[in-house]
This record gives sequence, structure tokens and C-alpha cells, in this order.
Amino acid sequence: MIKYIVSVLFLVASSLADINSRYFPSNFKIGVANAAPQIEGAWNEDGKGETVWDHFAHTYPEKIVDGTGPDVASDSYHKYKEDVAMVKAMGLDYYRLSIAWSRILPTGYTDQVNQPGVDYYTNLFAELKANNIEPMVTLYHWDLPQPLEEELGGWLNEQTADLFAEFARLCYQLYGDDVKMWITINEPKQVCQSGYGTGILAPGIVSDGIGDYVCARNVILAHAKAYHIYDDEFRATQGGRVAMVIDTLWFEPGSDSEADKEAAERILQFSFGLYGNPIYIGDWPQVVIDRVAMRSTQEGYAQSRLPAFSAEEIDYIKGTYDYLALNHYTTHMVNATEETAIGTPGYGADISVREWQQPDWPPGAASWFSVVPWGLRNLLVWLKNTYGDIEIVITENGLSDTSGIMEDDHRIYYFQNYLSNCLDAIYEDGVNLSTYIAWSILDDWEWTGGFTSFLGMYSVNFTDPERTRTPRKSATFFTDIVKNRCLVDTCTE
Ligand SMILES: *[C@@H]1O[C@H](CO)[C@@H](O)[C@H](O)[C@H]1NC(C)=O
Ligand SMILES: *[C@@H]1O[C@H](CO)[C@@H](O)[C@H](O)[C@H]1NC(C)=O
Ligand SMILES: *[C@@H]1O[C@H](CO)[C@@H](O)[C@H](O)[C@H]1NC(C)=O
Repeated sequence: MIKYIVSVLFLVASSLADINSRYFPSNFKIGVANAAPQIEGAWNEDGKGETVWDHFAHTYPEKIVDGTGPDVASDSYHKYKEDVAMVKAMGLDYYRLSIAWSRILPTGYTDQVNQPGVDYYTNLFAELKANNIEPMVTLYHWDLPQPLEEELGGWLNEQTADLFAEFARLCYQLYGDDVKMWITINEPKQVCQSGYGTGILAPGIVSDGIGDYVCARNVILAHAKAYHIYDDEFRATQGGRVAMVIDTLWFEPGSDSEADKEAAERILQFSFGLYGNPIYIGDWPQVVIDRVAMRSTQEGYAQSRLPAFSAEEIDYIKGTYDYLALNHYTTHMVNATEETAIGTPGYGADISVREWQQPDWPPGAASWFSVVPWGLRNLLVWLKNTYGDIEIVITENGLSDTSGIMEDDHRIYYFQNYLSNCLDAIYEDGVNLSTYIAWSILDDWEWTGGFTSFLGMYSVNFTDPERTRTPRKSATFFTDIVKNRCLVDTCTE
């Protein structure tokens, strides 16, 4: 305990001296993010269809910490103008939001287009345009229309990839004049490894080491199809850009030993590389192919649990990016360990490393979450070294807490130090980082965390029918950063 207190004091004392005092590059863009199922509410209003998250929360409330659902959330469906005004007041370049598939296509299919849903986003984009804020739009933020889960098995069926591509085409047609930054899929690792592997997230399918890889393949194909549709049919007239957002922790080797370094690289390849390699380099990462094949054989499977891409598919997927989009929150240490015994197959067993956290790292709301600002810089350098000088857009980064306190100095510390490491990466390491999007502008419904995990620079009173928004201390701090383009009192070019 004493060690912990000392290290926190050290962090506070040393923090300002460590903060990068260069200005942000003149073309660097800053924004905030959120997602339809977490803020919109109006879950069944004006013709919106049910999503897997509506269904999951209503059917298994015991799987949500506080038993709540996304029914009303932050009520942004009715309060979007207020949200846009907050973004405007902070002086931000980008507002990242997502379109709810089932608000536009209630069944998931293109047979019924729900006009009030279409109008909602038309009005939202008009409001952003009137305020000179650029939208960054996610087409899939985990909210699969429930009929596609029930009728097709969701992301375990390749047909879902085609249906997603149809939905993407419709969105380009409807909104492509206003939207120039598109994101196909948000965090495929959470969609697949948690939605169809461990089953802790919706739709809650438990198929660890099998369904999750089938999902990964279909989600990557869905992204590639949506990318090609944009490329073939819209890019020439609309001139926008498309990418998939991949989330990963940074994994720091527990020592300089070759074994620990290899273990850290391996989990990075199973985490970011599983989704990034097919897009940025081509095919699954070799270490993933080799390890899943090796363990599948030992487990008695006739073929690898990792479904292969054909040569045509590898070619079709490779290069489907206009930038590299990254969600990042925290870091784990990684040690080599003994190979997990052959038995029940699983994604974790396929990786077989030991993850741990330094005891003196300040904690976030979840057990896996600590504040480790230098991890982001190491990750950015790894991305540059692994995939080349692709433009990088950080699409999420932020701090969760369980207190929701208004004087959120810990969040200020987080943003200041993570952004400082972004500047170090740009100026010291030559990383091609163009954009930083913070999560989040306002408190939301945090999936299985319900209303017990807070990440907003504005608090939302979830017991108030008005869902009143109130700025936290971090909102003022972040507004100053955007205005001054600088993290400290005085900056240099
Ligand atoms: C990780 O490895 C390092 C170096 O061998 C060792 O000092 C440390 O105790 C290990 N930590 C864990 C949690 O295994
Ligand atoms: C950074 O990315 C932009 C946009 O893709 C590109 O034009 C530029 O050449 C890149 N810069 C470097 C140093 O690679
Ligand atoms: C939240 O709203 C409720 C209902 O209007 C009100 O009683 C309560 O004081 C509010 N909480 C805060 C922290 O403002």
C-alpha cells in the first residue's frame, strides 16, 4: 500500500516535467466518439428494429452489472442537437458516431427501409454541417439486427457479410455527400472473441477457439466487401475514405529475454494482427496460422479451427484501407509461459502467454484496465514498424471510472499523458499519426457495465428523465487543449 501511495505521488510530481511541450502539428485533428447503441436510446421507437444488444440485455439482465438495457441510454435520439452543441463548444474537428443498422433496416435486409430512421441521421449530419463539425461514421458498432442472429446465426454465417455490404452501400448512397470518413466495423475482436467465443458480449454465443475464428473471417470479408463497394461505386464522386477500427492493448515484454519478447509479439499478432494482417499485409498472421493448426492437430481436429482464406480472398481483402484506425485503452505486461495443456480448445490457449499488470499502475474501472500512457507510444511505433508508414487515426482512447466524480483529475492526467505520448510518437519516432478521437464526450450505457462505468467528459444524470448533461473538469481541460493546440502552459513549435 505504501509503495502504491509513493508511486502515485511520484506520478503527480513528475507528470508536468514529462509532458511534451510541442504544439500539435497544424493539420492534426481532434475529436470525440460515441456509438448508437450506447447513447441513442429509443430502442424501439419510430420503427427501429431489435438488435442483438437489445435482445441480450432484455433476455439476460443478469449478464449486465446493474441489470440495465440500452432502452433510453443517454437519450441522444431526442437530444442530438444538444450533443452537437457540446462538441461545438469544445471546438472539435470530428464527431465520431455510428449508424444503427436496425434503425435504417429494421429486419437487417434491404426489403424495408425505415424512413424516420433515415431522417434521424440526415438531420444529425445537417446539424453537424451547420456547426462546421466533420462526421466520422461507423457502420457497425456491435448492433447486429436480431433477425440476422436468429435466422442466420449472425456473424457465423458468411451471408451476414453480404447483408452488411448492402447496408453499407445504402449508407454511402444516403449520406456520402456529408460523410467523408467511414469506418466499416468497430472492434472486430470484441464482436468475435467476446460475442462468439467467450460469449460475455452479445449475442452471447460460447464457442471459444472455433466460432470466434469463423466470425473473424466473416467480419473481415464484410469489411472488404463494404470497402470495395465504396471504391467501385462511390469514391470517384464522393472522395471519402474507409477503414476498419481494430482495438488492441499494448503488450510489453516482461523482460528482455527472447522468450518474453516472442510472447508479447505473439499476443499482438493474435490481437491486432488477426484482423490487421489480412488487410494491411495479406492473410492471417503466420504465427496464428501455425499455432492454431498445431493445437488443432493435437486436439484431434482433421483441419485447423482457423478457417483459411482462399488465394482470391487474400487478394480481395489485402489493401482494403485508406488509413489505419486504432482503439486503445491500456497495456498489459506479457511473459512466456508453458504451453497450455491440450484439452478444451480456446483462443487464450492458442496464444499461451501470461498477462499481468504492474501493481503500481493507477487503476481504471475494470480489472484489466490500468493507466499506462507510454504503452500507446510503444504501440504506435510497433504499428509503424509492422505495417509501414500508413496514416494512423486513433479512433478511441479514454479512461473509465466507477465513481463518476465531476472533479475528474485522473481523467485529465490520462488525456494529458496519453496525448503527450502521441506527440512523442509524432515528433520523436516519426509515426504518421494524423488524428486523435477521445472516448467519450458523454456518459453512456457501457454494454455489460450498464450505467456503472463512466467515461464521459460530460456526465449524464441517468435517473433524470431529461438525461441532463453536465461538464466535468476534464471537459474544460480538453477544450483548452483543442483551443491552445498544446498540453502545457507554454508550447514551442
Ligand atoms: C515475468 O518475467 C520476469 C523476468 O523473468 C520476472 O521477473 C517476473 O516475475 C515475471 N512475472 C510474472 C507475473 O510471471
Ligand atoms: C502519412 O499519411 C499521409 C496520408 O496517407 C501520406 O500522404 C503521407 O505521405 C504519410 N507520411 C509519411 C511520412 O509517410
Ligand atoms: C439527477 O436527477 C434526479 C431527478 O431529476 C435528481 O433528483 C438528482 O438530484 C439528480 N442528480 C444530480 C447529481 O444532479
